[in-house]
Amino acid sequence: MLSHEENELLTRVGPGTPMGEMLRRYWVPACLSDELPESDGDPIRVRLLGEDLVAFRDSTGHVGLMDEHCPHRGASLFFGRNEEGGLRCLYHGWKMDVAGNVLDMPCEPRAVGQDAPPLQRKVKHAAYPVVEQGDVVWAYLGPADKRPVFPRFQWTLVPRENRIVRKVVEECSWLQSLEGALDSPHFPVLHVGHDIMRYPDEQRHLRFTPPQQECHDTRYGFVHVIKRVTAQDTQHFDETKGWHTTARLFAVPFHSYVTGLPGDSWGVHLFVPMDDESNSYYEIRYHPNHQLGDDEPERHLTRGVDLDMSYRKVVRRLDNRYLQDRAKMRAKQHFSGIEGRPHEDMAMVEGMGKIYDRTKEHLGVADVVIIHLRERLLDSLRIFMAGGEPLGLDPRIPYDRMTMASKRLPVGASWTQLDAIVGDDEAVAAAARQTG
Ligand code: FES
Ligand SMILES: [Fe+2]
Repeated sequence: MLSHEENELLTRVGPGTPMGEMLRRYWVPACLSDELPESDGDPIRVRLLGEDLVAFRDSTGHVGLMDEHCPHRGASLFFGRNEEGGLRCLYHGWKMDVAGNVLDMPCEPRAVGQDAPPLQRKVKHAAYPVVEQGDVVWAYLGPADKRPVFPRFQWTLVPRENRIVRKVVEECSWLQSLEGALDSPHFPVLHVGHDIMRYPDEQRHLRFTPPQQECHDTRYGFVHVIKRVTAQDTQHFDETKGWHTTARLFAVPFHSYVTGLPGDSWGVHLFVPMDDESNSYYEIRYHPNHQLGDDEPERHLTRGVDLDMSYRKVVRRLDNRYLQDRAKMRAKQHFSGIEGRPHEDMAMVEGMGKIYDRTKEHLGVADVVIIHLRERLLDSLRIFMAGGEPLGLDPRIPYDRMTMASKRLPVGASWTQLDAIVGDDEAVAAAARQTG
């Protein structure tokens, strides 16, 4: 459980809040590149860290991300004309380029011989730097002198056909969604539920052995190690068969690296706060060496079908219980009654309410990773609030090589024998010493 103050500290992301200011020190996803498919195409609205922004691709293909409201008198630039190197406000015609320079003020008088009215040189519209990497438009909303180099995340570097990037809006705090992604103990229950459906309570503890979990701190966050007994479905706990061991990574502020995805692919999940009460979930699946098939339909996350054009759910939603099928649940055909793992997850985290009051929780041993996640975020916040650099911004962190790994290891073996590259040799050495 958290104190009320800690809960507020972690979940408030608007300008001027400690977490909001810390998040502004990282490159954060603003939208998918596909949302701006062509030069001079339609602008889109972007809600990011509590700010209302507008994004557009100008005549030369560069993406602009700026305050939605015109610097003149606040009309929405979402309605604007995107043409000839800038976005023009419909109200009085002011036109801004991707850097926020005002290019035109047609209603303002200009003296003979002047190429622009004096006001035009004085006004600069709030615009943020962006880069496009990995089919995503990333933005930096922090102070100019603190802008970090873009971290070369491995998934952004593979060929486009080796990667699938999806997005969906989740109607709750980013921290709820992020906790759900790291929370591995829910998997055999929420997403599988076999043992609970198959065996009566008094037999179940013989069939199911909860995983062992460890967290090891790194420069960017931590490594989460999960050890499961193999063949847990059919056998009594038998340690001699070794442990199926997985190393997952968490990088501050919202990058969760996962394993065990279809087609032997790897995954990274990002939960980017739109504001205190909603977040954009970017789901990346990739493989460094081969192309991926698309399993989109079974995940029920297709834009224009399951999602509207703003990536909000239109078919399976909280207010229709994600079309939960209770007849299937009663017949023991489906544990949750909710189709699609992403929707099972969203039912849990969105169902908590927009910002769950974590003073009411009762955390157990299985929640170790949740506790650790909050500690690392608070660690980073405390360093930042004391004037230091938040975690994960050290340019020496090899994001381009970091990978998670999963395989069966003999009893007593350290997770450091996995093929994971966790990007922090010192942390690995410390973990090996601990086990050894
Ligand atoms: S409000 Fe945009 S030009 Fe006047
Ligand atoms: Fe899940």
